[in-house]
Amino acid sequence: MEWRFKHGATEMSQITHSHTSDALLATFAAWQGDTRGVRVAQAPGRVNVIGEHTDYNDGFVLPMTLDKAVYAAARLGVGSRHRIRSVEFDQSLTFEVGTMPRTGRGHWASYAGGMLLEMQVGAAVDLLITGHVPQGAGLSSSAALEMAIGLVLSTVLGMEVDPITMARTGQRVEHQYAGVTCGLMDQMVSRLGKSNHALLLDCRSLGYTHVPLQDAAVKIVVINSNVRRALASSKYNERRSECIQGLACLQQWNPRLRALRDVTLDLLGEFGSVMDPVLHSRARHVVEENARVHAAVAALRAGDWPQLGVLLAASHESLRRLYEVSCAELDFLVEVALAAPGVYGARMMGGGFGGCTISIVEPNRAEELTKAVQASYQRRFDRETTAWILEEGLEAAILV
Ligand code: GLA
Repeated sequence: MEWRFKHGATEMSQITHSHTSDALLATFAAWQGDTRGVRVAQAPGRVNVIGEHTDYNDGFVLPMTLDKAVYAAARLGVGSRHRIRSVEFDQSLTFEVGTMPRTGRGHWASYAGGMLLEMQVGAAVDLLITGHVPQGAGLSSSAALEMAIGLVLSTVLGMEVDPITMARTGQRVEHQYAGVTCGLMDQMVSRLGKSNHALLLDCRSLGYTHVPLQDAAVKIVVINSNVRRALASSKYNERRSECIQGLACLQQWNPRLRALRDVTLDLLGEFGSVMDPVLHSRARHVVEENARVHAAVAALRAGDWPQLGVLLAASHESLRRLYEVSCAELDFLVEVALAAPGVYGARMMGGGFGGCTISIVEPNRAEELTKAVQASYQRRFDRETTAWILEEGLEAAILV
């Protein structure tokens, strides 16, 4: 999650897919002399239509892939040291096979080192990475990095790694080397998402369905608050542990509950007065948000955009009031979007405390929204937003 790109957020919307595999191969050649045996993989970042803070409660989520990806080029190296390089950071590192690079938690190299260790790569590898997914914006740049690395390594090493195992490997890297006890949504959609579809994922069974979302009737607008709170990771972990505490409390009355996913509103209503109010609110968000995911899938399938919009707005309210992961900037962006013409719905997205909002908008009003929001945000917070209309989502793939 702390993966930093050098380019400023303002450049984000102008970046096209200039770092294609050709450009990456040319950079690889300049770095290592030639490109013999080099393979290249891409994995996209994500937006989340709805289903926030439900994944680590065994719940449901409905993310889709971004039109921006991370790219990884790799081949077997020589000797006993891995050589890794980041184009954006203009940084190279080498370290012994079977060890971690000596960088801090959440450094870009710790994701690479983590994937190499967790995939038990026993041979030296040369690995070059680049990408366009803005980091720290709630768009899962780190999951995209993990999945791009996972894909390219498994290809270079001839390993068969099924997508779910790869997603779980990325999640372990987040937990162990970035200190974020995230769920599995980001890695799963980066690895398994399909263009023009949202991914309905059951985070307990890990069963999933691709739900078509390519209707010409709507556009998705992503607006980056460009706020990054230093405490976001620790607050995220705190929410996760509050969910565990809330569950433990409810299990006193019903020991069969395995996760907040199993809790009903009736049960919450019954024990509302005896449960810690904060834990109660957190649990209520999760229970209601899971229901909203199913309602959103029904709305999507019916092309009922006003209904989808209502669900998004309700999700934001719940994240703001019950789960308390929003902030003034996100609330403002959602408020402005909801008041704009042609907007069906909007909400904050991802872990919270900064990052992006998602809005569902009539196509001919989308451009107008990006402009309106930029001007008013600048006036209110003296800070820039970066807003863009989502193009067709990318898919994880081996490119070379
Ligand atoms: C982050 C985590 C995900 C998920 C979201 C909140 O993106 O990585 O696992 O918990 O926050 O929905």
